[in-house]
Amino acid sequence: MTLPRILSALILLFAAPAALAEEVVTSPDGRITVTVDVNGEGRPFYRVEKDGAPVLTDSRLGFLLTDQDKLERRLKVVGAARASHDETWEQPWGEQRFVRDHHNALTVRFEEDSEAARKFGVAFRVFDDAVAFSYVFDDASMGETVRIAEELTEFNLAEDGTAWWIPGGEWNRYEYLYEKTPISAVSVAHTPLTFRMNNGTHVALHEAALVDFAGMWMKRTTGTNFRATLAPTGSGAARAVRDTPFATPWRTIRISDDAAGLAESLVELNLNAPNKLGDVSWFKPHKYVGVWWSLHLDEETWGSGPKHGANTANVKRYIDFAAENGFEGVLVEGWNIGWDGNWFFNGSDFSFTEAYPDYDFEELARYAAEKGVPIVGHHETSGDVGNYEAQLAAGLDLMAARGVKTIKSGYVTDACNLRYVHPDGSETRECTESQVMQRHHLKVVTEAAKRRIAINPHEPVKDTGLRRTYPNWVAREGARGMEFSAWGVPPNGPSHVPTMVFTRLLSGPMDYTPGILSLEGRGQPLQMTMARALAEYVLVYSPIQMVADLPEHYAEHPGAFQFIKDVPADWSESRVLDAEIGEYVVTARKDRNSEEWFLGGGADEKGRDTRVALDFLDPGKTYRAQIYRDAETAHFQGPTRFDIVIEEREVAAGNTLDLRMAPGGGFAVRLIPVEG
Ligand code: NOJ
Ligand code: CA
Repeated sequence: MTLPRILSALILLFAAPAALAEEVVTSPDGRITVTVDVNGEGRPFYRVEKDGAPVLTDSRLGFLLTDQDKLERRLKVVGAARASHDETWEQPWGEQRFVRDHHNALTVRFEEDSEAARKFGVAFRVFDDAVAFSYVFDDASMGETVRIAEELTEFNLAEDGTAWWIPGGEWNRYEYLYEKTPISAVSVAHTPLTFRMNNGTHVALHEAALVDFAGMWMKRTTGTNFRATLAPTGSGAARAVRDTPFATPWRTIRISDDAAGLAESLVELNLNAPNKLGDVSWFKPHKYVGVWWSLHLDEETWGSGPKHGANTANVKRYIDFAAENGFEGVLVEGWNIGWDGNWFFNGSDFSFTEAYPDYDFEELARYAAEKGVPIVGHHETSGDVGNYEAQLAAGLDLMAARGVKTIKSGYVTDACNLRYVHPDGSETRECTESQVMQRHHLKVVTEAAKRRIAINPHEPVKDTGLRRTYPNWVAREGARGMEFSAWGVPPNGPSHVPTMVFTRLLSGPMDYTPGILSLEGRGQPLQMTMARALAEYVLVYSPIQMVADLPEHYAEHPGAFQFIKDVPADWSESRVLDAEIGEYVVTARKDRNSEEWFLGGGADEKGRDTRVALDFLDPGKTYRAQIYRDAETAHFQGPTRFDIVIEEREVAAGNTLDLRMAPGGGFAVRLIPVEG
């Protein structure tokens, strides 16, 4: 030890620990407070309070490293910098046109009391609806490269309550029904991870700007204490490796008095960098149809043969149907060589440039252009990322040449079984959230952007707000989608969407593929009423909404189908008016391109009576309300699931609409300003 170090150690010894001032930062409205400090062992921690009541109790910060001593003890606070920020920015499309980023910032600098005297920062941002922080490794004392074995960040919930969660790292990725358990009964969970504490405070843990880093799972350690768990890597080495300087993804904690506040927060968008793609007016939000539900019903096949869905004549039929009804895309799955045999296991067979002989891609591109309905491309990888990357440029070039504006991709394989080929030619099997997979997804998105193509991955990595930086990453799956209503055991139940609004959908747009008006899967009924099937276009936000049923099924339900034709896919405002997680939700959205408002409601298997106050309407205007609601007889189980009432009424701001949601039901309303 050098003399100054001995002296500073002595000073530390003689200064009572309590005298080391805590660093505090508060939200702009003063309700949320974050306190940062080190304890007597030099372990850094933070805690969060709302209105003086604890939300997170002392929660430690730090890392295990593969080639350095753990970074978590013998630390002292050596500096703190503060700033405030208030800016409103515009989304090119979205659930909300203008987004306000209003927060107070505190960056705390830590230094280790060791020979190496390692230094790093933790940057906190406190919003009215959330707390976020990111570790900043910007000092040479950390070495040129930081190799992270595990993240030790804790999130210690102040009290027990209810949690809604899906297991982290399990084989079916994010495609699980949500568990509803005590907070103290969660095991390892994916984020967004949603809680309602016994005192009523709602909390959701997630992350923002997951770029070139391992995704974070949440592991309950003891009681109501959670710890970050970084997704492992197939090489078995460090879970995240980065050269300095760098900052980790943001760890986010949404905090709200009610469920609605959780859903309305856009904190992860605010923590991502602004658009790096420049002009993205080449993408327009839209609805699309596709050779898709027929495949899940097993009426047509992906692979070649007599039932091959992706044949030229069939696709022309879908193009005609889209053109007649104002939809702006036709997804074609099974167009390319590789689907024959058991495609789940044959990822290396997929060609991204060779079509099956009965799919005349060139002619279809011509026909699609003539009708103004582009083909939506499809790139299923079956988890063979190496095979996909080897063909990526050629595959994207072909789609661009065929006038494709959006590509749906797919990564169907068990979690942590993605085949990844490294630059040196070596192969590993990776998890969806592994660091290298984040490189892969951004590579696809940025290569597609160069060709003015939007990307919609299924079996994707979770959304962490990157659509702000890369707007062509327009949507993704990342939960149990409608396909489970076709063949899922069990199928998606009535509470699935009212739960997803406060879990999966907190992270961003989902290609849920609603609109199955036949209310029938592959030999199993859908667990919803007709009015509810319509409501899901309002409840689930995506700038690409599939009109997922077969054309012949829409012909059988012209009344309800009208709502699907009318509902937009781009909004200037979105509000959750009333909700209890997993029980019911009522959402209002305003069309981005008109003065119309839309309402959607959905209830669990108990149903719900709601009174919707129309105080969001323009006070000077009268509106024609086109109401699609459950009939008195409607019930999600049995033949009365088709019972719908479609009616019109005149309403004005300040009126209320009494809308009863049947068990597994809901409602959809279009509010059109009346001229004059
Ligand atoms: C799973 C996707 O979620 C589904 O939409 C798609 O049809 C299949 N994979 C085949 O790619
Ligand atoms: Ca899927």
